[in-house]
Amino acid sequence: MMTQIQPLTTPIARATEERGTITIDQVDLRLDLESEIQQLKRQMNAVILAHYYQESEIQDIADYIGDSLELSRKSQTTNADVIIFAGVHFMAETAKILNPTKQVLVPDMAAGCSLAAGCPPTEFRKFREAHPDHIAVTYINCSAEVKALSDIICTSSSAEAIINKIPRGQKIIFAPDRNLGRYLMRKTGRDMLLWQGACIVHETFSERKILELKARHSKALLIAHPECEETLLAHADFIGSTSALLKFTHDAIADEFIVATESGIIHQMEKLSPGKRFIPAPPESENCNCNHCPYMKLNTMEKIYLCMVNRSPEVLIPEDIRSKAQLALDRMLEMSKVAQD
Ligand code: 13P
Ligand code: SF4
Repeated sequence: MMTQIQPLTTPIARATEERGTITIDQVDLRLDLESEIQQLKRQMNAVILAHYYQESEIQDIADYIGDSLELSRKSQTTNADVIIFAGVHFMAETAKILNPTKQVLVPDMAAGCSLAAGCPPTEFRKFREAHPDHIAVTYINCSAEVKALSDIICTSSSAEAIINKIPRGQKIIFAPDRNLGRYLMRKTGRDMLLWQGACIVHETFSERKILELKARHSKALLIAHPECEETLLAHADFIGSTSALLKFTHDAIADEFIVATESGIIHQMEKLSPGKRFIPAPPESENCNCNHCPYMKLNTMEKIYLCMVNRSPEVLIPEDIRSKAQLALDRMLEMSKVAQD
């Protein structure tokens, strides 16, 4: 595996060539990780894709930052040989499904997602079999196996346009996020059969504390991701995907926002709109960091550096699953074209 790397100049990379795979405790703390990563990127012809929920320093070294749809598109069209995916596992899997000849590396294989974990393929297959007259429109936050069992994939930014394109008589299963599903039912006027999954981060926000914040900051607009619970969404001034929230904060005349999504996105909001104030929506408990996605936050600069040096962990998907999942993802990319381009 290591022989694929060109001879490298960093001490840690030399050590890798001598000893094989290196571990995090072997990383020299004096290394300038940012410049090491940039150097490795050139040597490997790699591209770094990052989601908005990554730590600020990871966002700052990424070649592209985006929501799930934008990152899917970018991973499909990249000319790089290697994709380093700083996000969660289903996002890196999506990159591999869409661009299978590329090597897709992740900083931490354990970076999962509560929505993906809450929709096991065997249970989802049974659910589909119990409703043979329904098609399955499945949120991209799911495993490759579940994608392969679905008809059309969607993201939070493409779901409404996709559902509106499905003939009205057609029955629909929507999985795995019940909150996004309910929100889409209201937006499209469609009745859908919902899988009862939820995001541990977006279900944690406290309606009570947010209403208190709104009262104290009367000019602040509440913006929310559609994975939040219905009761909270009812108070929102704007609802959208991470990219849509970012754009809204830039375009809006308001200069104060309460942000009901993972707080990592505030880094880009502050960069895009320097004079504005962004208040992270609080969770109910004082003693938790529950508005941070624990999976997204597993990724660190050290782990990005290590995955590049080690060329591992690598995302691999059996071809029979990948090709079926690709059909459902291709439908999403096709059906969301007009809405997004
Ligand atoms: P977006 O597609 O809006 O970026 O959402 C991804 C996600 O995981 C939200 O929790
Ligand atoms: Fe999954 Fe929620 Fe984390 Fe998004 S924020 S990756 S939906 S656990």
